[in-house]
Amino acid sequence: MSRDISVVPVKLNLANVTDEEAARVGLQPVRDWRAFGLQGYPGFLVISNPFLSGSQSFWVRQCLKTYPQKPNICNLDMHMSPSDTQDIWGKSLQSLSHPPSGRKEPKTLLEKLRWVTLGYHYNWETKTYSANHHTAFPADLHLLSLKISAACGFPGFQAEAGILNYYRSDSSLGIHVDESELDHSRPLLSLSFGQSAIFLLGGTQRQDPPVAMYMHSGDVMVMSGHSRLLYHAVPRIVPPPGGQSMLDKEGCSLSPSLHNNTVVEQVSEPDWTVCSRYIQSSRVNVTVRQVLGPGQCFPDSPSLSKRTNVEETDSYHDTPDREDMKRKRSGSTHSDSEQT
Ligand code: OGA
Ligand code: MN
Repeated sequence: MSRDISVVPVKLNLANVTDEEAARVGLQPVRDWRAFGLQGYPGFLVISNPFLSGSQSFWVRQCLKTYPQKPNICNLDMHMSPSDTQDIWGKSLQSLSHPPSGRKEPKTLLEKLRWVTLGYHYNWETKTYSANHHTAFPADLHLLSLKISAACGFPGFQAEAGILNYYRSDSSLGIHVDESELDHSRPLLSLSFGQSAIFLLGGTQRQDPPVAMYMHSGDVMVMSGHSRLLYHAVPRIVPPPGGQSMLDKEGCSLSPSLHNNTVVEQVSEPDWTVCSRYIQSSRVNVTVRQVLGPGQCFPDSPSLSKRTNVEETDSYHDTPDREDMKRKRSGSTHSDSEQT
């Protein structure tokens, strides 16, 4: 932690989530979670890897193999046809299933993946969600989000929108506030997998000096209350402590406390080979948001004539060297120095 800001333990709500409910989504009993807050940042919370051993591999497999599939939307859809982005995983397998040859190989679609949106699909151009741009939110990730937020004192959280960020070792995410959701009284959840990140938490003004911290694989960050609308950024992806992430250390064999009645499935060896190769150099960040308050509707559901043209939004993510974009809500505009 930079500057002198105290890290304080945070008490979670043990009564809201049973051990069985936690295990169903691959989480340890809530009493075993280590949750920390920062003095002066009420509502900001980091839970240091609450996952059961082996279960991170399932969530990573979902992020790499399942969530990029239609009807979800990804950056590659901005300049490729749906048939070409239909099977990103399948089309990348060949080259990711064997160790790197040492020669320069063309990038696979999986390596070109930068973001996926779920539920209410975030429109990067208008920075809004809308009623007519929605597909079903994945039930497994909804349940995971429900349990995490309940343990943090927010029962009944509705996971309505997800933005998944795929970072290569030279990716960054510019300073931004996540304010497009209509109800800011609900928390924003952020899950980290794979390589570590340096996370900067700022203040309510862009120029407020930030505090820096690491996000490691398995860590869960919650921004709520006073901290829900603070500026933040990810300037750098860094190797995990000791060179190996928890995800990597644990692999895909599930903890014995995970048996029946769970949404967390055993990841097959061939799938794990691809996932583990991918996360050797990459980080996956899952952010989950409730967009609407209970009973709330979009104020002015965009009419068909106002419908946004997703084809025009690719430059936010794909254009290299857009220093300018890094500074806007690049939030969404997670930049790369590398040509994709
Ligand atoms: C975001 C975000 C942070 C991270 O997607 O809005 O801030 O840790 N992600 O990658
Ligand atoms: Mn954010």
